[in-house]
Amino acid sequence: MSETNSPGESRRGAPRFFVGYEDDESEALDDSMRTDMELYEDDEDTDSPAERQIVVGICCMMKKSKSKPMTQILERLCRFEYITVVIFPEDVILNEPVDKWPLCDCLISFHSKGFPLDKAVSYATLRNPLLINDLNMQYYIQDRREVYRILQEEGIDLPRYAVLNRDPDKPDECNLVEGEDHVEVNGEIFQKPFVEKPVCAEDHNVYIYYPTSAGGGSQRLFRKIGSRSSVYSPESSVRKTGSYIYEEFMPTDGTDVKVYTVGPDYAHAEARKSPALDGKVERDSEGKEVRYPVMLSAMEKLVARKVCLAFKQTVCGFDLLRANGHSYVCDVNGFSFVKNSMKYYDDCAKILGNIVMRELAPQFQIPWSIPTEAEDIPIVPTTSGTMMELRCVIAVIRHGDRTPKQKMKMEVRNPMFFDLFEKYGGYKTGKLKLKKPKQLQEVLDITRQLLAELGQHNDCEIEEKKSKLEQLKTVLEMYGHFSGINRKVQLTYLPHGQPKTSSEEEEIRGKKKNCECSPVFQCL
Ligand SMILES: Nc1ncnc2c1ncn2[C@@H]1O[C@H](COP(=O)(O)OP(=O)(O)OP(=O)(O)O)[C@@H](O)[C@H]1O
Ligand SMILES: [Mg+2]
Repeated sequence: MSETNSPGESRRGAPRFFVGYEDDESEALDDSMRTDMELYEDDEDTDSPAERQIVVGICCMMKKSKSKPMTQILERLCRFEYITVVIFPEDVILNEPVDKWPLCDCLISFHSKGFPLDKAVSYATLRNPLLINDLNMQYYIQDRREVYRILQEEGIDLPRYAVLNRDPDKPDECNLVEGEDHVEVNGEIFQKPFVEKPVCAEDHNVYIYYPTSAGGGSQRLFRKIGSRSSVYSPESSVRKTGSYIYEEFMPTDGTDVKVYTVGPDYAHAEARKSPALDGKVERDSEGKEVRYPVMLSAMEKLVARKVCLAFKQTVCGFDLLRANGHSYVCDVNGFSFVKNSMKYYDDCAKILGNIVMRELAPQFQIPWSIPTEAEDIPIVPTTSGTMMELRCVIAVIRHGDRTPKQKMKMEVRNPMFFDLFEKYGGYKTGKLKLKKPKQLQEVLDITRQLLAELGQHNDCEIEEKKSKLEQLKTVLEMYGHFSGINRKVQLTYLPHGQPKTSSEEEEIRGKKKNCECSPVFQCL
């Protein structure tokens, strides 16, 4: 991330990565950093707008902008020739008016604890950058009632739920009836086990109440503290202050599916142990939470697309509960990156860069076309050097079994066959197909008659002919009647008695070379 050129100049190889406004905020990236003001001042010296870089502003709390996934992804985003990244310092975000905030053409901004969303909204109104994640929708994401309302409006499956709103001044005036094993909220009954969630999405104190048959009490979930994410409580009655969502408990296999979208067409998913189980967080030898690989079904991918679009959050994390053969969305978190996945970092930066270029390149007069798959050579670093990664194998496979051909060829010379050939117009094309019951019956009659006549002979050629005629008779007599499409007779007229042969028949036919005017008769 070194920056040696004037930021006003267009790309010269080195990725650009700036921290806006105050240089002293910077840590790892500071050697090469310029303020955003310099970036734009320099730009004024340059006549052509086509020479200016597209500036992507990162406006969020420092904890997020300095996080490992963010750093990894921004490093990759900077590799786009025409993109420069400017991180808004937290101090500026919190303490400066928005007209003093860095300038940018595209804004990646999202709420987290302590973030002044109102200011970010004002900034977006003032500067009108391309928004990767819509800001106004982020108010809704902070309220589980709104999240569920939007999910419902979009026809996305979610657990059956009811909202219990409590007026803090009149805590007793609410539509809650509590029984030992159920609650009734606004007239809707939820049998235990059910889930109680604070309406504020930032409040992670979600409680799950157990039925008396399972020993009663409740599991109290909280934001992870070290190796714990929940604790059992003997308390069986629900909370009496605050507003909550009550919802049916979905019986999963004990894991949550975490989905991370980057635009409507990309979703990474992984499963983690549900905090609702025993509250002990599973960690690997490096202390990272254990994640299980997940393949999303086509339906789930569609859900990811719908969530991303409905909440207008390109980068969006949400939770799926797989239960009873369905997948239910139980939580939408908004902006969230996958942690510790190189593949995701690569994909995410590429998709974001492509979105920025697609949307802004035209107005910057930058020639840009969406990279094709061929340009996306899947080269990966491995322990034994860099190599091509096999991304998929496509095969079209057919089983090897097939019905054997049930086809017999024979030559016939008897005038009765010639008559038949003529009767059904065979001479017009030299070929005749007989499929009708009446026609097949006629062939059978001729065959029977010929066999009766051949009965006394012992000549070997006649014997061979006889066996074929017998075969023909057997086939035509099968099933006791002619129907359907299971038999047919083809006659081909060969004026010189030379049928086209398969090699195996060649030998036999050698003996008959001299025969003239023999229609060849095939029984299929
Ligand atoms: N209806 C439900 N049925 C079963 N388990 C549920 C249900 N709702 C939530 N859970 C469990 O409780 C956990 C916490 O719920 P949820 O994700 O809604 O809360 P949160 O505190 O907003 O989570 P996050 O930390 O992801 O923001 C889920 O990960 C899931 O394991
Ligand atoms: Mg959650």
